[in-house]
Amino acid sequence: MNFHNILINWYLQNKRDLPWRKTTNPYLIWLSEIMLQQTRVAQGMPYFFSFTKEFPTVFDLANADEEQVLKLWQGLGYYSRARNLHKTAQYVANELNGVFPPSYKDLLKLKGVGEYTAAAIASFSYNEVVPVVDGNVFRVLSRYFDVESDIALLATKKEFTALAHELMPKDNPAIFNQAIMEFGALQCVPKSPNCPVCVFTDSCAALQKKKVDVLPVKSKKIKVTNRFFNYLILEDDLGNTLIQKRTLKGIWHNLYEFPLLETQEIVGFDFVSKAAANDIFPAYTIIGIEECSDATVIHKLSHQHLHIQFWKIKIKDRIENGIEANNLKTFPFPIAIYNFILKKNDVIVI
Ligand code: ADE
Repeated sequence: MNFHNILINWYLQNKRDLPWRKTTNPYLIWLSEIMLQQTRVAQGMPYFFSFTKEFPTVFDLANADEEQVLKLWQGLGYYSRARNLHKTAQYVANELNGVFPPSYKDLLKLKGVGEYTAAAIASFSYNEVVPVVDGNVFRVLSRYFDVESDIALLATKKEFTALAHELMPKDNPAIFNQAIMEFGALQCVPKSPNCPVCVFTDSCAALQKKKVDVLPVKSKKIKVTNRFFNYLILEDDLGNTLIQKRTLKGIWHNLYEFPLLETQEIVGFDFVSKAAANDIFPAYTIIGIEECSDATVIHKLSHQHLHIQFWKIKIKDRIENGIEANNLKTFPFPIAIYNFILKKNDVIVI
């Protein structure tokens, strides 16, 4: 049997029962693929259910407020995906009468839709013969064929795309794409794959050459930056607090947060007290500052480690447009802040 037959047979016997595999509706496929970028299936699944319940069609998503979309996305991370999702839904609903572009080439023009996502939608929804190439595919093919090309390079992506294209059955690209991703996710896993029970034990080049552990080759190491965030939780005489929308480009764009003091290193009470009184809240009369030290967290993003401290600051004055503590939960927050709000509700409320 050839590569694709063995792979597809394996898939038919081992595939998970996943909701987005029961449809060819491009809206639902698109939604699932955007959610599954950088996200494990188990984590993405509840979000897929809540989005399809709340927004059964692209028109429903297009007509939602961005804030509602971000709120429903809360916890899934990489929030630019949610903002692009919303913008693209509006584009498809308003400019394309709700009809998704009909080919790989046209799907690529949508905001937030790259080569991988366009290939997934085009193959799963339209049976177009385009291979998906994601981390799973790099791993499976680099091991099976013993390819040592550096997968961080664009040229390697082209090499693997051509290889996958050659391998896929032209009469059923959808099942091949699902199968190779599933095989990478369940069998040919990054660490300690169970090679003795694999359907490719006789033909996998990496297994025969004892190179499973060293493939695929990836050169670029991500440089991680440490950042130090101090969130200042104001509390006025009504027990209300202050939040603001994060308008800066970069992480958490358009999500809410408490007033932020970003520092070059971890800082203590004296530093925060001075900065709060002199620079951040000169208009308020501060009557007490306290670190919520049990809430300190290190929140790890792909390129940044955020060292987050929370400080409760009581003031004598009244906050204009202050938010009641029990209203806070309705705003979209980064999950690190939302967890603080859940845990610390008793601290915020007088
Ligand atoms: N990860 C990304 N896309 C996927 C899909 N369609 N099925 C399972 N896992 C995936």
